[in-house]
Amino acid sequence: MTYKIAVANQKGGVAKTTTTLSLGASFTENGFKVLLIDLDPQANLTLALGFKPTVLEGAMGDVLLGGKMLSEIVLKTAQENLNLAPSNDEMQLADRFLGMRDNFERILLDAFNDVREYDYILMDCPPAIGPLTQCALTAADLHILPTQCEYFSAHAIRSSLALIRDIRERTNPALRYRVLLTMIDSSNQVHQSLNHQIRRAFNNAVFETEIEIDGKLRESPLFAKPITMYAPESLGAIQYRQLSRELLENGITESA
Ligand SMILES: Nc1ncnc2c1ncn2[C@@H]1O[C@H](COP(=O)(O)OP(=O)(O)OP(=O)(O)O)[C@@H](O)[C@H]1O
Ligand SMILES: [Mg+2]
Repeated sequence: MTYKIAVANQKGGVAKTTTTLSLGASFTENGFKVLLIDLDPQANLTLALGFKPTVLEGAMGDVLLGGKMLSEIVLKTAQENLNLAPSNDEMQLADRFLGMRDNFERILLDAFNDVREYDYILMDCPPAIGPLTQCALTAADLHILPTQCEYFSAHAIRSSLALIRDIRERTNPALRYRVLLTMIDSSNQVHQSLNHQIRRAFNNAVFETEIEIDGKLRESPLFAKPITMYAPESLGAIQYRQLSRELLENGITESA
């Protein structure tokens, strides 16, 4: 059985891509085989693993528009057991035309029939609630919602919950979600107080693990490596490892 995680938030720059990559790499340290899926036309995940979107032979856009099988486009990364289904500009076409097809939400779920050898599939979504994110949430067992401790965050979480309710009703009744607090500055009073407010409002839907600000997480894409490989002892690596443990130990049963 493959456990599928969609990392999504319509808000930009909340660490969706960083979380997909770092959590996926942490799972491989526990001996799991992991596939990362880049669903963002910006192709940040693809770039962060050292691939040039302009010279790819195939990418997720081909899979979603029906031109290629998922297994045909999968690339190996520098980290053993961590593979990538990359993205490029064509994803913009997929984003535009996908929504016109009947049952488009299930296209990604169907594509996964072709890659059964993975323990985990992690999907990095664009900062939008369009067709690509809807496909990811339809295919997912768990939706991880990375959030910064900022004034508008609770509001953004609530609009994400509306999307989750909609997806549960239409295509994926079993979808679970959990909120991940990211880029925390624990010396910042505002972060501390919003952290408490978000935890009070969303209770056990919030991961106990928090991700603090760590400059190494910004550097690692320049070296085309996940944080666990680039700086294995850094705070970022330690906290994302802790997140993988929290999920392995009780994430599935305790998710909201
Ligand atoms: N814990 C952290 N500490 C410091 N920098 C971080 C941390 N997490 C992410 N970043 C940096 O913040 C920026 C935004 O992160 P990221 O690209 O992962 O967000 P995103 O939600 O995927 O953005 P987008 O919505 O554009 O896809 C990046 O430069 C990333 O390196
Ligand atoms: Mg991103």
